[in-house]
Amino acid sequence: MVISVMNNKGGTGKTTNCLSIAGGLAGAGYKVLVVDLDSQSYASFGLGVPYGDLSPSLAEALFGESSLESLVRKTGTENLELVTASIELADSDIVLADLPDRENRLDLLPRPVRDSYDFIILDCPPSVSLLCINAIQASDYYLVPFVPEYLCLEGLITFFDTMERVRKGFDTHAELLGILITMRSPRRMKLRDSEGVNQARITKLVREQYGRKVFTAAITRDPALALAPSFGKTIFELRPRGRAAREYRHLIAEIIERCN
Ligand SMILES: Nc1ncnc2c1ncn2[C@@H]1O[C@H](COP(=O)(O)OP(=O)(O)OP(=O)(O)O)[C@@H](O)[C@H]1O
Ligand SMILES: [Mg+2]
Repeated sequence: MVISVMNNKGGTGKTTNCLSIAGGLAGAGYKVLVVDLDSQSYASFGLGVPYGDLSPSLAEALFGESSLESLVRKTGTENLELVTASIELADSDIVLADLPDRENRLDLLPRPVRDSYDFIILDCPPSVSLLCINAIQASDYYLVPFVPEYLCLEGLITFFDTMERVRKGFDTHAELLGILITMRSPRRMKLRDSEGVNQARITKLVREQYGRKVFTAAITRDPALALAPSFGKTIFELRPRGRAAREYRHLIAEIIERCN
């Protein structure tokens, strides 16, 4: 199963969710590969790869002679492997634009890689660039993290419009796995708290608009989620009994159910 974590708006928790979902699936015994597509390399850092060690990265498979298999690395987490991103991916759209079959380069990745994992999770950069279109074309599903704030709501509408165009233009088969409400305020129940009230209102709107496409599970803002990458650990390793791990367990059960 190949899942892209996407949202063209920046800072909506794509990488954090990618790493936590991957960590949760790996902890549940699934064999998982994370492919970092973002030249900022945050998913790679979060899985413990230092800056000087990012290459060879996905760029070698996309633009060079390397096979994807040769780029796969082990991480400190059992069942969890990684293909890093590096700065060479920053101008990937310019390079991809000149290549034949530019929308399907990632689909040129060998079948054996797909067959070696239960889940491959793609951490996309904040755009709907050619690289992201490649990710979508290689995916069975895409998952959209959504922060319940006004600008993200506007962004979500634009994102789905763009995805509809991509779907028509490139004959995409990837389906929406779900919208994940993330970074919600821990104080949302206090009616005098304006952030909490505002988030509750936007969450209600999104649940009404997108119905069952919104995961029941939602992820609360938790400093431990920002801390985990600095140790190269997933939230399940850093705070296995904390709220975030509990929320992700709920999410992972839903993901597995939806993928089946
Ligand atoms: N649930 C959460 N609780 C606390 N902090 C979070 C949570 N989710 C994400 N963050 C923090 O918010 C910031 C943005 O998250 P993240 O990097 O995952 O977003 P992104 O969508 O991948 O960003 P980009 O668009 O730049 O790739 C990071 O500093 C991350 O640590
Ligand atoms: Mg990111």
